[in-house]
Amino acid sequence: MTDKTNIRGLIRKALEMREFSYVPYSGFAVGAALLAKNGTVYTGCNIENAAYGATICAERTAIFKAVSEGVKEFDAIVVVGAPKGEVPRAECPPCGTCRQVMSEFADKDFSVILAVDEDHYHIYSMEEMLPHSFDL
Ligand code: THU
Repeated sequence: MTDKTNIRGLIRKALEMREFSYVPYSGFAVGAALLAKNGTVYTGCNIENAAYGATICAERTAIFKAVSEGVKEFDAIVVVGAPKGEVPRAECPPCGTCRQVMSEFADKDFSVILAVDEDHYHIYSMEEMLPHSFDL
């Protein structure tokens, strides 16, 4: 699972990913770091589009990178966000679509970590993030 050292490293990676965010429309840069059960970390940033609906969030970028490489079992995801060029001052809660995508691959121990920096974060369960979720 995610010990403290691990969490700090994941937060650092998520923060670094904000550099790559392509956000000419919102100016809001989000980074994500997804820890797979096999130890691999998949990172993501948000990538916007002139057709706004084609935008992808940082969390889904990370999850789709992993799943597209055959990895579907995860321990945790870190999410951080703030206006581009600014240091985060508050947590960045995932959008509803990202929560639904997370829940597709989350087991009961999966952690959603919302961070401001390496020393300030909260850990949520998938159930807290998306209660009464849809599933088939
Ligand atoms: N965004 C994310 O990357 N993740 C979320 O969960 C919330 C929103 C992005 C999408 C868009 O590029 C920007 O934040 C403003 O909505």
